[in-house]
Amino acid sequence: MTLPSTVKIVEVGPRDGLQNEAGVVPSAVKIELIDRLAEAGLRVIEATAFVSPKWVPQMGDNAAVMRGIRRQSATAYPVLVPNLQGFDAAIEAGAAEVAIFAAASESFSRKNINCSIAESLKRFEPVISAASALEIPVRGYVSCVVGCPYEGAVAPEQAADVAAALFAMGCYEVSLGDTIGVGTPDSVQRLLEACRRKIPIGKLAGHYHDTYGMAVANIYASLQLGLSVFDSSIAGLGGCPYAKGASGNVATEDVVYLLNGLGIETGIDLAKLAAIGHWISGAINRPNGAKAGRALWAKTAA
Ligand code: HMG
Ligand code: MG
Repeated sequence: MTLPSTVKIVEVGPRDGLQNEAGVVPSAVKIELIDRLAEAGLRVIEATAFVSPKWVPQMGDNAAVMRGIRRQSATAYPVLVPNLQGFDAAIEAGAAEVAIFAAASESFSRKNINCSIAESLKRFEPVISAASALEIPVRGYVSCVVGCPYEGAVAPEQAADVAAALFAMGCYEVSLGDTIGVGTPDSVQRLLEACRRKIPIGKLAGHYHDTYGMAVANIYASLQLGLSVFDSSIAGLGGCPYAKGASGNVATEDVVYLLNGLGIETGIDLAKLAAIGHWISGAINRPNGAKAGRALWAKTAA
């Protein structure tokens, strides 16, 4: 099996990671994190979310973060929006790309965005229309593609149907979120097989959480099926406010270490990543969740 020669990494730490922190992370720290990630070669950095601050207070400084970052022309800074209100606020704050998010399970959809899957898709229609009028690219997410914290196992077809709906609506790429990290190479490959019957593999991304330590193995299994876009989080930041016990996204450092070992090009400076992962973990007082990051940093510091 030929693996892709290049991979696009979508860094989601500043949003998916920091949305989950118990304490307040100062906007200045978020801004420094985003700027340093861009400087390390990340070409897509999900910067923040224009969601209700009552639901996710950690993203309440969204506009300040968007104003504060030093934008690099080669890097895109998408933001998460749940509805038209969020889209309008994102555009007002200067966002040039947005992401909408649905779920493969009804219970998670209700807990996360307070509506059914069908209602959420309906709610995204005006967002897509407004985005298309402004030529703003829209990325789509599907959460709980392998398992749901409330409903258990999720059938691959069920996740593929929601992904296909987002793609048909106009999302240029659909990210498949194993939100609680229960996937294994086999279940992830079954999911991808179901999805690629409806969507070209080049339009899909893998968004794997590392709760059971399977995320890197799942990425390797996905590469074998031709997937070449992966979401990850510096230092493995995160979890999910609506999925108790979920650990963070796979660490960006670990993904880049894997890809470097396979000779797959990412354009990312791993030594810089390791330094950023060490710094942000200290800045928010949490353990560094990146195994490769910790090992590389220990060598540098020795
Ligand atoms: P709702 O309470 O049903 O909304 O929440 P509503 O329309 O009835 O509005 C209620 C209040 O919220 C109103 O304010 C609105 O103005 C305000 P009030 O009149 O009470 O003062 N409001 C907003 N404020 C700011 N920005 C907005 C916005 N919309 C309404 N955009 C809603 C529905 C969708 C808004 C809410 O449930 C929400 O914001 N949910 C977001 C939850 C979230 O961010 N979850 C984490 C991200 S998803 C994720 O992490 C998974 C993913 O990473 C993939 C993976 O990891 O697998 C993508
Ligand atoms: Mg996630």
